[in-house]
Amino acid sequence: MDISGYALVTGGASGIGKACCHALAQEGASGILVADINLDGAKDTVAAIRAVAVHPEFRAEAIRVDVSQEDSVRDAISHMTGLFGRIDYSVHCAGVPGGTSDPISTASFPDFKRLLEVNVHGTFLVTRAVSAAMKAQDPKPVHAKYPERGTSRGVIVNLASVSSHICLPNMVQYNTSKHAVLGITKTAGMVVTFRPPPLLTADFDSDLSSGLAIDNVSHGIRVNCVCPTWTDTPMITRAMEVVPGLEQRLLTGMPMGRLCRPEEVADTVLYLCSPRSSFTTGTGMIMDGGMSLSIKS
Ligand SMILES: NC(=O)c1ccc[n+]([C@@H]2O[C@H](COP(=O)([O-])OP(=O)(O)OC[C@H]3O[C@@H](n4cnc5c(N)ncnc54)[C@H](O)[C@@H]3O)[C@@H](O)[C@H]2O)c1
Repeated sequence: MDISGYALVTGGASGIGKACCHALAQEGASGILVADINLDGAKDTVAAIRAVAVHPEFRAEAIRVDVSQEDSVRDAISHMTGLFGRIDYSVHCAGVPGGTSDPISTASFPDFKRLLEVNVHGTFLVTRAVSAAMKAQDPKPVHAKYPERGTSRGVIVNLASVSSHICLPNMVQYNTSKHAVLGITKTAGMVVTFRPPPLLTADFDSDLSSGLAIDNVSHGIRVNCVCPTWTDTPMITRAMEVVPGLEQRLLTGMPMGRLCRPEEVADTVLYLCSPRSSFTTGTGMIMDGGMSLSIKS
């Protein structure tokens, strides 16, 4: 996959984030900062990936971060750039599931606010801080063998969900938060191709009014998100505790007759980090084993 640089992985203490740390280390990353609200879990991941890393000078560290807090995110990004000198890949997996499962008429407002704080504010804060750090770092060739692919300052991959594209029943807080993650990703990876009408031009900044590519893409930063279906992680184990009969219902709705594996999500994350996806930005890549094909939303 031609993975070689330094990665920040939020939510790396568990589930998909942990699988991403393993995959990045096994594919040649030079270093990984494992950032999670659960510092002990992040330290366990660091110990595990040091044992499997293939880069001869591989370095890994753990840091506690609360992605919903601006200061905490700022400190983690500054620690990352101080430690490794740059961020080549940002894989944002920190997130929480809904604490309740209810129709909209009785849905919990505190739970709704909690999911917006962690899943939406967290994605905004991490994407914003990483974008600023990447913009300030020198570009590197995308691929030594293919100079025509140009240069890159870094790649951002956010964890969204199939719930970014469809709405699963009784999950207004999760559906909303994951639609927003896709919105942040598309905006951060955006290319503007339209020309505003002349009357509006004065209100637009000069990049936008000239119709040039703006935002991260013009700085050689790609931003994508992965949109998996139900994946076998501790998050799903907790959801099964909240919703009676969920496991059987999930399996019934899965054309492949099984849940997605965290390593399968990590494979897609690796692809989006690697130069193999050098022309892909602003996408929400669905990986649902065909589940959403049979759901009308
Ligand atoms: N498991 C699934 O079925 C599934 C499906 C689609 C998308 N996702 C998304 O993938 C991501 C990872 O999910 P997972 O299944 O691996 O969950 P998980 O619970 O196994 O891991 C989530 C990690 O995020 C960390 N975290 C939670 N709140 C945090 C905060 N405020 N600051 C920093 N870290 C925090 C947790 O400590 C944990 O280590 C989430 O965004 C989730 O919504 C999961």
